[in-house]
Amino acid sequence: CLQQIAEMSKATVHMKDPEHLEQILESIKDSGPNTLQVISDFDMTLTRFAYNGKRCPTSHNVLDNSKLISKTCQAEMKNLLNTYYPIEIDSTRSIEEKLPLMVEWWTKVHNLLIEQKIRKDQLTAVVKESNVILREGYQLFFHHLHELDIPLLIFSAGVGDVLEEVIRQAGVLHPNVKVFSNYMDFDESGVLQDFKGELIHVYNKREGALLNTQHFQEIQSRHNVMLLGDSLGDLTMADGVQDLQNILKIGYLNDKVEERKQSYLDSYDIVLERDESMDVNSLLREIR
Ligand code: TMP
Ligand code: MG
Repeated sequence: CLQQIAEMSKATVHMKDPEHLEQILESIKDSGPNTLQVISDFDMTLTRFAYNGKRCPTSHNVLDNSKLISKTCQAEMKNLLNTYYPIEIDSTRSIEEKLPLMVEWWTKVHNLLIEQKIRKDQLTAVVKESNVILREGYQLFFHHLHELDIPLLIFSAGVGDVLEEVIRQAGVLHPNVKVFSNYMDFDESGVLQDFKGELIHVYNKREGALLNTQHFQEIQSRHNVMLLGDSLGDLTMADGVQDLQNILKIGYLNDKVEERKQSYLDSYDIVLERDESMDVNSLLREIR
């Protein structure tokens, strides 16, 4: 059935083992939409990595680039991004080596944001004024899952309040959508004072998943998962799913393509190389 899906034969689509993938897809198809849940990363997975050759912002960048942040703070955030992002995507370092550095990056950034006394009521305008763009075809993706009542978990190391606002403004924050992310904690006058709960960074999503057992219990009859991510850290997002039967992993390879291609092919069933679309909709279309 894969061969009949035109979108899957594009030059940007790679699969290491199409036969294995076909088996997973057939098995999920046979079980039907009532057994499926979708777990997706947010930044650079549901949103575009680039548009007209220019990088698009992550949910953190929406704040970095906004008028809510002083010029000095903006410069510091940019410095941190230039220091730590290359480490995040460095294929020569192990995840163990990256872990403490990612905690360091996120902690520094969140402390800087707290110093800026950001107000909750400013977030709507900041998202509206930002250049964040959901991938082409996002409406179909969200509507299909809503229509078939398939739970969509957005699991993001970004800023929950920002990404939720992005989805709300796009008109697709349907009741089947649930978000695990770093949510801001505002004081009674609506000023940012902290971040809630355990920090989520790119490489501790497994811990995040295991902390949220209740969510997975509520949908425990859904043993099949479609997982979408853009980082190797996203592969652990489904680790909280009980009695997992089939998992179909789709990975966006946006950056450092040549260096990382083999590791993505080894870990993801489908690798989308510099592909800005949501053509994975074509796979969902099969599951009705
Ligand atoms: P994600 O889990 O939704 O992809 O969000 C994590 C991304 O956020 C990760 O790829 C790096 C990015 N990021 C920034 O762009 N700026 C920052 O300050 C931090 C801490 C992360
Ligand atoms: Mg991401």
